[in-house]
Amino acid sequence: YELMLDTANLEDLKEGLDSWPVVGVTSNPTILKEEGGIDVYARLREIKALCGKKRSLHVQVVSTATDAILEEARHILDQLGKDTFIKVPVSAAGLPAIKKLSAGGVNVTATAIYSTMQGMLAVLAGAKYIAVYFNRMENNCTDPTRVIAEIRSFIDGSGSDAKILAASFKNAAQVVSAYASGAQGATVGADIIRLGLGMTSIDSAVDGFRKDFEAIHGAGKTMS
Ligand code: E4P
Repeated sequence: YELMLDTANLEDLKEGLDSWPVVGVTSNPTILKEEGGIDVYARLREIKALCGKKRSLHVQVVSTATDAILEEARHILDQLGKDTFIKVPVSAAGLPAIKKLSAGGVNVTATAIYSTMQGMLAVLAGAKYIAVYFNRMENNCTDPTRVIAEIRSFIDGSGSDAKILAASFKNAAQVVSAYASGAQGATVGADIIRLGLGMTSIDSAVDGFRKDFEAIHGAGKTMS
């Protein structure tokens, strides 16, 4: 199972990449817009440097026509390195680009996935990650857990090494459901990780253990 960070915020990335078990960083134009008037490539280079060699960076194309997507992908690879994952929406124009890029050895993360059909096509086209939009599906009255389970069954049945990277989360319960339904990965905002660690009952349990230990050995004492 894999966990990635869905952000372009440097403070979140510095904390997250250093402290949390994350294996990659994803972004999209909206995430970049949230950072204000940044130089996009300068920021992505900084993120790439933070990722280092062991973590993947996933950068989304903006173009909507196949040839333009291919051109944009080449530019991203030139600017950020050949190991960058190119995020391509599984649209009518995006699918041929996914097929061509994958055939040429480019790492592709298929994105904007709202249906099992899109996921299956992206797997067949050779995408390495299948970014399924959990919250956006729920907003549209589609059950994302069914879509994830169906795509996972298709991946397993076809012997593909593609991985479902569930995305578009608004709360921790959605992340848990995505993994439980068969996603091998999830990309989440830093706020969701903080939510998962921020329950007051966790802190109160830790505090209770500390107080009990101090009751035995005195204030400030630990196992050290
Ligand atoms: C990540 O790959 C997706 O682009 C992202 O999670 C979409 O999230 P949103 O639905 O919050 O825009």
